[in-house]
Amino acid sequence: MSKSSKPTLTTEAGAPVADNQNSTSAGIGGPLLLQDQHLLEKLARFNRERIPERVVHARGSGAYGYFEVTDDVTAHTSAHFLGEVGRRTETFIRFSTVADNLGGPDAARDPRGFALKFYTEEGNYDLVGNNTPVFFIKDPLKFPDFIHSQKRDPFTGKQEPDNVWDFWAHAPEATHQVTWLMGDRGIPASYRHMNGYGSHTYQWTNAEGEVFFVKYHFKTNQGIRCLSSDQGAELSGTDPNSHQTDLLQSIERGVFPSWTLYVQIMPADEAADYRFNPFDLTKVWPHGDYPLQRVGRLVLDRNPDNVFAEVEQSAFSPNNFVPGIGPSPDKMLQGRLFAYADAHRYRLGVNHTQLPVNAPKATEANNYGRDGLMAANAYGRHTKNYEPNSYGGPVESGAPLSAPRPVTGYWGTHEAPQHSKDDDFFQAGELYRLMSEEEKGRLVANIAGGLAQVSREDVIEKNLAHFSAADPEYGRRVEAAVRELQEG
Ligand code: HEM
Repeated sequence: MSKSSKPTLTTEAGAPVADNQNSTSAGIGGPLLLQDQHLLEKLARFNRERIPERVVHARGSGAYGYFEVTDDVTAHTSAHFLGEVGRRTETFIRFSTVADNLGGPDAARDPRGFALKFYTEEGNYDLVGNNTPVFFIKDPLKFPDFIHSQKRDPFTGKQEPDNVWDFWAHAPEATHQVTWLMGDRGIPASYRHMNGYGSHTYQWTNAEGEVFFVKYHFKTNQGIRCLSSDQGAELSGTDPNSHQTDLLQSIERGVFPSWTLYVQIMPADEAADYRFNPFDLTKVWPHGDYPLQRVGRLVLDRNPDNVFAEVEQSAFSPNNFVPGIGPSPDKMLQGRLFAYADAHRYRLGVNHTQLPVNAPKATEANNYGRDGLMAANAYGRHTKNYEPNSYGGPVESGAPLSAPRPVTGYWGTHEAPQHSKDDDFFQAGELYRLMSEEEKGRLVANIAGGLAQVSREDVIEKNLAHFSAADPEYGRRVEAAVRELQEG
């Protein structure tokens, strides 16, 4: 203890610091001394405060909470955390914007990340989704090109409409998601006022080994609220942290945001003959075909105490499954199964799974992975670091997490299997036709506002052709709005 009732300030090694205001100098007014451990340590630590930001979804906000099962889904999955009505599982969620770097405004027109970690008794289950039920592309090979085109240009250092729309000109499959993004839901008013989706199709397996394909929908209980382009632009300038402030203050006030989880469930044997590829991430499953079935509710009730430790260092991987839940053959999902943990090893290090926010809470990791930078989990002198062994260490369960699926054919760079109604445009057209006249007007104005900034006519033409293919009226209206802006 210091002379006051406050604890004594120490170096990182725990030794008392005598003076935190004046560096050690050689005489009064003289140069500073290398022996000033406190000064050296303080400056050196400060230089190392930043880690690589996420290559996408850099800007985000997190919160703890719980998931409670409200409806029996044991006929469809054996996942323990979904196994009983009333069962609660601790969760951590991170919401985010996608395209901008750390420090970008929260109120941007951009998809929002909805990354959820369930700390289950069978290990952590990560569902890394967005606030949109679909995505721009359907093959992971295109992802780095897509993201390059949407983030800052390497020469101009800012987002370029030329790049954004040039990518979309070459990606007809993006038309559905572009229509979604440019519509009214493209700028959520806050993280609390938007839905979350698993987006991909996932696999559920029940206790009898029966397989189902599922899509997750988290519906906000706060109601959907969105911002217009003008409101978003204004808020981005006046309060770039608007979503962070809203989430933080809501939870601090005890107003806990919640979402109701529904799933669409497709029996596995219906997938092959469904009218479009059910594993195509650019398409939704109509609710008429596969209705929403309620599962439970997610409640957020606790803010992290330290944004860096708990939010910046949080790590979600679509590859973290638990028994009863697994991947589908969606190519995008398959690519993501690799990408995230690899990003974490680069961004946070090989032992990121030992950080409190990422470590299992309802069970323990128990394996033969050892060492590496910053290993905190020492195991004990009686544990072996190899397997099999004769000493009673952990052994495999022998039970696959999800059911095996049949595959046939030759390896090669195949296009996805063709179904009878697989084109890239019909769902974009359906979404357009669902909109009211006012919504259509705002959608067209938002698209034209971006497209009219594009310098190449061939890029504009290719994009117009996509909107026309979705719905001829949609295409005509966007074209008219673009021409008007170009002439004005
Ligand atoms: C092949 C396609 C994709 C690849 C390669 C990819 C890759 C990545 C990478 C490398 C990160 C940064 C991870 C980190 O540093 O912690 C990330 C973050 C994220 N991605 Fe993707 N992504 C893809 C598609 C998607 C899709 C389709 C969704 C949603 C349905 C999505 C949702 C997210 C979210 C929510 C985050 C932020 C996670 C967090 O809050 O830490 N991504 N993605």
